[in-house]
Amino acid sequence: MRRPFVAGNWKMNTDTHTSVDLTKRIATGSSEVAGHSVTIAVCPPFTYLQSVTKALSASHIAVGAQDVYFESNGAFTGEISTSMLKDIGCTYILCGHSERRHVIGETDELINKKAAAAIAGGLLPILCIGELLAERDADQTGQVITRQLKSNLAGLSAEKVSAVTIAYEPVWAIGTGRTATPQQAQEAHSFIRELIAQMYDEELAEEIRILYGGSVKPDSAESLMRQNDVDGLLVGGASLKADDFLAIIQAAI
Ligand code: PGA
Repeated sequence: MRRPFVAGNWKMNTDTHTSVDLTKRIATGSSEVAGHSVTIAVCPPFTYLQSVTKALSASHIAVGAQDVYFESNGAFTGEISTSMLKDIGCTYILCGHSERRHVIGETDELINKKAAAAIAGGLLPILCIGELLAERDADQTGQVITRQLKSNLAGLSAEKVSAVTIAYEPVWAIGTGRTATPQQAQEAHSFIRELIAQMYDEELAEEIRILYGGSVKPDSAESLMRQNDVDGLLVGGASLKADDFLAIIQAAI
């Protein structure tokens, strides 16, 4: 049985006050689901990781960072290493988010290095993959997902990949208000699971969690979660509103 997983990606939002306030409201509001089998994580901006981690120290909610560099230390101005993130209590790390791929310009090769470094450093990557609208319209979704998964996980054994959560996030659905239909999500998720079975083995394919992300809202969460291969949700905009995020968590149980 794959345990449901709901993660909030705050992107470049919040400030000193609102990050802690949001954290506390999510922790309090989800305290009664703590005993249920659901993994919950929030991914604040780097600057608020420490205060959010502190605010969550006695809670069931994990903290993730939105990026990491693949080198462990040294002359890499502006970068943050896995050991620094571990040091302040991070558990998860987003890798390959579409905004980093398509806005910042990260390549598949760089994402592979970051995922490998994260696993080696004891962080759990949430590897985001997904096609652009033009790629979906050209029937290239399968090809794009295959290229991203094969290159982003290159050189990693099944044992290492068991630390990874995959997030299928069609780029046309992110921040656009246009959620994939539950059927579109299921189709892509089962494709990804079969691909993992081919690349590794059935056991890993059965155990790996595949989240859906892209304009998830409280009213779309339940039907997405009802799909066989949708194991959780990666939530952007709606994770900035405690009530919406809590309703999405509730839908995932
Ligand atoms: P969104 O973002 O829910 O605002 O579409 C999802 C994501 O980018 O992870």
